Amino acid sequence: MEIVIVPDSAAGARVAARLIARVVTAKPTAVLGLATGSSPLGTYAELAEQATSGTTDFSAASGFALDEYVGIPAEHPQSYAAVIDREVTRRLGMDPARVHVPDGRATEIPAACDAYEAAIRASGGVDIQILGIGANGHIGFNEPSSSLSSRTRIKTLTPRTRADNARFFDSLDDVPTHCLTQGLGTIMDARRIVLVAQGSAKAAAVAAAVEGPVSAMCPASVLQFHPHATVVVDEAAAADL
Ligand code: GLP
Repeated sequence: MEIVIVPDSAAGARVAARLIARVVTAKPTAVLGLATGSSPLGTYAELAEQATSGTTDFSAASGFALDEYVGIPAEHPQSYAAVIDREVTRRLGMDPARVHVPDGRATEIPAACDAYEAAIRASGGVDIQILGIGANGHIGFNEPSSSLSSRTRIKTLTPRTRADNARFFDSLDDVPTHCLTQGLGTIMDARRIVLVAQGSAKAAAVAAAVEGPVSAMCPASVLQFHPHATVVVDEAAAADL
């Protein structure tokens, strides 16, 4: 694991964007693993600037989102399909047909999860996975106790994650109770991983992930086993290291 500590979130976004742009420049058809949440928004803004200025061309790249809520329509502004379309696909000039999000509305959930895994495999695999981290150490929606070798599946959101994400909805009651998420095994298949975290609310999770024992109780700790994982944190998020 490579740990990069930067003064602030803007610097972190620049570092992460540089890593991602390098992959896409070397391989225009690169497959990007896409995270939602607020953590990678600065990185996406940096990449959007590169796309707009013509520095990096994302039009041949593909994307696979990490996760999706179950039970809200894809058109809902807080569905991850809508967030990825808004924050990533359009701004980076990616081809919407090449950007995939798990189908949280599927009637056959296990089949939809298997199909998502098959689609990632068929793409040739994720070249670089962008990750945030939850305050409880989750990545994607792999909550504490997730199997370290898990694949895409349905999960129940913990009360803490629902409370953390309530800011995106009108009320806590509106936050979905379930989600589909790539598993930790799925995420670990990516060739490179870049995790971004900012702010003191993430300090304990970052320390547990980077310096704690590898444990299902801190899902992000599995990244210690990844050969090419970079953790980009600002000073506040690095405070417990
Ligand atoms: C969300 C997402 C994760 C994200 C994490 C942190 O629920 N499923 O992919 O990394 O929680 O969110 P944020 O970046 O907003 O703090």
